[in-house]
Amino acid sequence: MPYKDMREFVDVLEKKGLLSRIGAEVDPEWEINGVTHTVTSEGGPAVLFENVKGTSTPVLSELFGRSWRRLGLAMDLDTTDQVSIRAEWMKRIEEPIDPVLVDSGPCKENILTGERASMDGLFPMVRWHEGDGGYYPGTLGMLVTADPETGDQNVGCYRMMYRSGTETGLMMQPFQGGAQHLEKWSRLHPGVAMPVAVVFGADPCYVLAGGSKFDQPPSEDAYAGGLRGEAIEVVTCEDSGLKVPANAELVLEGLVMPGEMDKDGPFGEFTGFLDHQSRCNIFRITTITHRDDPIFHGEREGYPSEGGLIYILGMEPVVLAKLQSVEGVLDVHMPLSGVGFELIISMRVTSRGQVRQVIQEVFGDPDVGGYIKHVTVVGEGIDIRNRDDVAWAVATHVQADRDLLIIPRCPQTSLDASQTRRNWGTKLGIDATGPIFDYQEEGQDFPSLCDDPDIKARVKAQWDKYGIT
Ligand SMILES: Cc1cc2nc3c(=O)[nH]c(=O)nc-3n(C[C@H](O)[C@H](O)[C@H](O)COP(=O)(O)O)c2cc1C
Repeated sequence: MPYKDMREFVDVLEKKGLLSRIGAEVDPEWEINGVTHTVTSEGGPAVLFENVKGTSTPVLSELFGRSWRRLGLAMDLDTTDQVSIRAEWMKRIEEPIDPVLVDSGPCKENILTGERASMDGLFPMVRWHEGDGGYYPGTLGMLVTADPETGDQNVGCYRMMYRSGTETGLMMQPFQGGAQHLEKWSRLHPGVAMPVAVVFGADPCYVLAGGSKFDQPPSEDAYAGGLRGEAIEVVTCEDSGLKVPANAELVLEGLVMPGEMDKDGPFGEFTGFLDHQSRCNIFRITTITHRDDPIFHGEREGYPSEGGLIYILGMEPVVLAKLQSVEGVLDVHMPLSGVGFELIISMRVTSRGQVRQVIQEVFGDPDVGGYIKHVTVVGEGIDIRNRDDVAWAVATHVQADRDLLIIPRCPQTSLDASQTRRNWGTKLGIDATGPIFDYQEEGQDFPSLCDDPDIKARVKAQWDKYGIT
């Protein structure tokens, strides 16, 4: 059964012992940062801070943390197995379900307009990382925009820095759906601000869909419906025709003027580094609607973070869908510690050049090539989800002069802190499948492993005989 709203999901997590309520007063200046960092690094539960200094609004954070189980539960799957969650995700997004428009809903229980439409006092002002340039009310705010020609909606998650009670930054990278709508709007309506809305605390599948990339149309609303197996209910905004989830905790409505930009950050990013160098759009709030006793939803970004988990949840299926028709590709994996920059491919190699071709296909792809910078390809016997197995394959199969493919000066997200020139990165492909064809040309066999699976199986079958516990 899909969850009606975020509160129902919170209840389920709590019943399963996967959520902690924190009644003690916490200081949003440093303490929420410290607790969430510790909890997520150590694989802990979701946390609901009920007593946050300076506001009566509780803060829900680390809803998914680094837990595949909590991600699975968002889709009503009780498993920790990433591969089965991915398979179900890929199946469900094949069948999006359009949202249903309703007249009203809980997110309209309170409507603040004019001078009352201010975040001050209502929104907790959290400094999520030491070194952040300000408070970030938006770490999991879902920005809703509409294509100015077709009306098709986009939902995306973009960080938002506090500027005043009625103004935030909005850091949308140019290739994101929201930024593309704004660019189109500026051409069609020069000098006019574009209406937007930002949703906090909707059904968990809406959050997962908003943080992931999809072919569009339809909008993320419909993908969220597909993921939860039932349409989400939406209501019309007060100030525009935009549609937002009826059960959301808080909704900010407002305007973004194309071309109006200012400095954003520093902000602790999912790579683990402070991003010092961004400029962002400005969002001016015109109306706030919210539930009675709203719960604020956010997360610590940094590393490790649930943002990294959501990113990989959405990105791995995109890569797999692109590569699964390529000859020889068996599976792909993006380890969480690779922060989306690293891809491991399992391949059955049958022809010379096949591995290089697939590596170049990844780097050249417009959707994924700007993020992924290291691709390692291993043969089919290697468990791509086991870092030790992959490291063993690289250590024992690779000669650096022969098996590395290095492509300098490629487009790469500026969030990669190792860059010395912004947005330029060097791609690295590692062919760790072994030089089968070189051996063949030399008339030699590829070296045999010294493991003997038959002997191992025979010993296992009579294991009790040895009395080893
Ligand atoms: C927690 C989280 C934070 C994110 N922050 C940003 C951000 O500040 N700026 C940005 O451009 N993308 C950010 N992203 C990535 C986009 O939300 C993501 O790529 C999304 O798929 C955009 O989809 P769209 O192009 O449909 O809007 C973030 C994603 C997550 C999960």
